[in-house]
Amino acid sequence: MILTNLTVDNFRNLIDVDLAFSTSINIFYGCNGSGKTSILEATHYLGLGRSFRSRNVRRLINHTSDKFALVGQLFQVNQPTITVGIERKADSSLIKIGGKTSGSLVELAQLLPLQLINADSHLLLTSGPLARRQFIDWGVFHVEPLFFSYWQRANRIIKQRNANLKSARNYSDVSMWDEELETIAIWLNQQRENYINQFQPIFTTLLESLLDRQDLKLHYYRGWSNESLYKDLLRASFARDQLLGYTQFGPHRADLQLKFKNVAAVEVLSQGQQKLAAYAMRIAQGLHLRQQSTKRCIFLIDDLPSELDQERRLKIIELLLSLDSQLFVTGIEIESLSQLATNQAKVFHVEQGSIKES
Ligand SMILES: Nc1ncnc2c1ncn2[C@@H]1O[C@H](COP(=O)(O)OP(=O)(O)O)[C@@H](O)[C@H]1O
Ligand SMILES: [Mg+2]
Repeated sequence: MILTNLTVDNFRNLIDVDLAFSTSINIFYGCNGSGKTSILEATHYLGLGRSFRSRNVRRLINHTSDKFALVGQLFQVNQPTITVGIERKADSSLIKIGGKTSGSLVELAQLLPLQLINADSHLLLTSGPLARRQFIDWGVFHVEPLFFSYWQRANRIIKQRNANLKSARNYSDVSMWDEELETIAIWLNQQRENYINQFQPIFTTLLESLLDRQDLKLHYYRGWSNESLYKDLLRASFARDQLLGYTQFGPHRADLQLKFKNVAAVEVLSQGQQKLAAYAMRIAQGLHLRQQSTKRCIFLIDDLPSELDQERRLKIIELLLSLDSQLFVTGIEIESLSQLATNQAKVFHVEQGSIKES
């Protein structure tokens, strides 16, 4: 869907902001500390119920208030406009979707697929597997309606199993879940594998155009060895699981590694190249979603110019324009973003928490 309007109350330094967006490109420029990242963060919060900068909601609420509120209008061709909102206090939250106050974060996430590209993007490659698992699952979640319930069930079972490991006297004390866990694990793995198979060629093409390298490949690990039947493995690893206090193998340990031959790509790529590879992953994910569904994802791109040399910047801009997605792009100077300022673009000047179309 497209975010046509957003009102922001007391989020960071954005006390009272009311914006009507372009359905294609929205450019925010202004000095350091003016509120550019905050407007992207607010949009991100509306779509995912969390910030990309802080886990602590108190940091997000304006210092002069005890709550923040975000309200957006979502538009899709041939469908009624939907109003979505989140209100957050330090210890409570309220989600509204289309007039109902019983909305969930999952419903919000369904409606507002987002991709963030910022100075931390390379963490997708360099940090632990969690971020990459979330990456794969984002892709599956948006094309497979059943994914979330299976994923949630797997997590519940594994949590329960881990709790029982501590007091178990023998394998039969934890094995009652293993049959169901196996069924779910196989299903989740199948979905993830299908996704990676579709994603890989799109990603490879983008990577070639951004990095000029054809020798990097994604390797998917399902969370347990390819040689073992999952149920046999659960039984065989019981003693060690018990010693460690957690289930070592399963869909909760899946990963996706970018590799050069058999070496992790992060060992051979410069930090700049890692960033480009991560951008390629994010953009490819948006492209895949567009090809596989009627959904369009919104790209939030923070400080694009400062990250890249002129040639790559132009390439990324070209790619982003070709995506036919709604873009929110920030930068300090409007000059460095001028290639994006097409006829359909809206340009906003951000100044001390106030945002004006210019
Ligand atoms: N909870 C808050 N209440 C009020 N101001 C805040 C809060 N959190 C951050 N700020 C301020 O908001 C401003 C905007 O920050 P940011 O959006 O990161 O700016 P930019 O991306 O334009 O450089 C900063 O000056 C910061 O000090
Ligand atoms: Mg910023």
